[in-house]
Amino acid sequence: MKIGSIELASPYVVAPMAGMTDTAFRRLVKRHGGCGLVVTEMVSSEGLVRGIDRTLEYAEYTEEERPVSIQIFGGDPPKMAAAARIVQDMGADIVDINMGCPVPKIAKHNAGCSLMREPDHAARVVEAMVDAVTIPVTVKMRAGWKDNERNAPVLAKMVQEAGASAVTIHGRTAEQSYSGWADWELVRQVAGDLKIPVLGSGDCVEPEQIVERMNTGVSGVLVGRGVLRNPWILAQAADIAAGRAPRTVTMAERGLFLLDYIDLLLDEREHEQQGFRHLAPGVPQTSAPASGHERWVINKLRALCAWYSKGLDSGSHLRISVNSAENVAQLRHIIDSFFMTAQATV
Ligand SMILES: Cc1cc2nc3c(=O)[nH]c(=O)nc-3n(C[C@H](O)[C@H](O)[C@H](O)COP(=O)(O)O)c2cc1C
Repeated sequence: MKIGSIELASPYVVAPMAGMTDTAFRRLVKRHGGCGLVVTEMVSSEGLVRGIDRTLEYAEYTEEERPVSIQIFGGDPPKMAAAARIVQDMGADIVDINMGCPVPKIAKHNAGCSLMREPDHAARVVEAMVDAVTIPVTVKMRAGWKDNERNAPVLAKMVQEAGASAVTIHGRTAEQSYSGWADWELVRQVAGDLKIPVLGSGDCVEPEQIVERMNTGVSGVLVGRGVLRNPWILAQAADIAAGRAPRTVTMAERGLFLLDYIDLLLDEREHEQQGFRHLAPGVPQTSAPASGHERWVINKLRALCAWYSKGLDSGSHLRISVNSAENVAQLRHIIDSFFMTAQATV
């Protein structure tokens, strides 16, 4: 599958997830296989352009993750164009526009999914970005803003006309937020209508579902919460698509994933060589880890374990223990005793 000139080795993609899909997490998922593209957490166009916001760190990525798409949000065409140029200058492969975020804090700035309420304006944002960069510009949208305004089929055509290289549809409306189910019939319709690649997103929590959704005519599938629960899900989907049995994952391997995640997070800016991380402008190459780094690592693990523990026997015990950990040593011990003594696969 190709997005513009960017070749993806697999059609399975790690969906952008604010607070979750940081560079460490993306690297680890990529190492486990089956992943054709990773997308950063959404990054504010305003923050990128002003170069003052610590949220610039959300745009950071490492070579190992390529191809990488940096997702930006905003509603002002010139600012989004300027932010797209920064993304291009950072060496990213793709710049993606967030037209899906339903959160009022974002929507009230005419960004995220509220762009779907003004299709002409949304198309102007795309056009301005396409004019500003040579890398592919892609769009991630929902089915629509409201349940009775499901205009993704119309807007998807408009953004194609405006020069977008691919469109992803998360088949829920902003009104639905994360309730109900993603409408894959609507995704199928858009995939049939467009010339550019259309990717689908929503509710793939088993590897079989990812493979099955490819039959809707999409060029690729983004997996969000399913990857947080099971970072091997894309590799397992690739196994199934290739006619193999999906790989089994032992409890020890699952524990190791969390320990590796802790190590990568702790290492951030500590033991990294010059140039290891592609930085946004304004972030010093040598910046030391912020004070409170260990607390940040603990919070990151808490956030991941809220998803990761789902579907595990005694998962709620893991969640409660991780939430009570006061330092990284305790965290490691909790993970060791939960996963390393068990032999089961999940
Ligand atoms: C915690 C969380 C954060 C998310 N953040 C973003 C985001 O920053 N940008 C975006 O386009 N979508 C975001 N999403 C939506 C996902 O990319 C995805 O489209 C949605 O969760 C449906 O797919 P899933 O059922 O596989 O999770 C987020 C979803 C979750 C659960």
